[in-house]
Amino acid sequence: MHLIHPALVHFSVAFLVAGGLLEAAGILSRRETRERAGAVLVLAGTLFLAPTVAAGFLAQNSVAGFNGGTADVHLHERFGLVLLGLFAALALWKGWYQGRLPADQKVLYAVLVLAGVGLTLVTAWMGGHLVYGYGIGVTFG
Ligand code: HEM
Repeated sequence: MHLIHPALVHFSVAFLVAGGLLEAAGILSRRETRERAGAVLVLAGTLFLAPTVAAGFLAQNSVAGFNGGTADVHLHERFGLVLLGLFAALALWKGWYQGRLPADQKVLYAVLVLAGVGLTLVTAWMGGHLVYGYGIGVTFG
């Protein structure tokens, strides 16, 4: 069961990083086509985050052991939950305006999306460290 999480994370990470960079770049350079293309990818990444997080808990409960990495497992979990909260809040914010934020709110939105991209990368790095640093899910212990 723990293999569902690694399968799903790729979609969340790819959509959120590529989409977030594209959408923020579109907003900051006032290129609407880029902004919209990025927004679609960010929405896809946000939709993938919920099953990714659910599968993360499934992985946490089904791996053989944490090999001394318990604190890092819980830190990775907290970062994942904050990430889900951030992108869900951004989606609700946009949804409130039917997908078209007022011009004076767009720069703040772009900054928060970029923060979300950074958080995605850190969370993904932490997940990789669980597997490649502690051997969680790939060794017994
Ligand atoms: C918040 C709930 C989460 C929990 C409880 C969780 C838990 C785990 C656990 C236990 C592992 C190692 C075991 C395995 O899957 O084989 C792992 C790996 C990983 N996680 Fe998470 N995770 C969560 C969210 C996330 C999110 C939101 C991301 C993406 C940004 C992410 C990215 C990764 C990555 C990239 C790996 C390494 C996969 C591999 O290379 O095999 N996780 N996670």
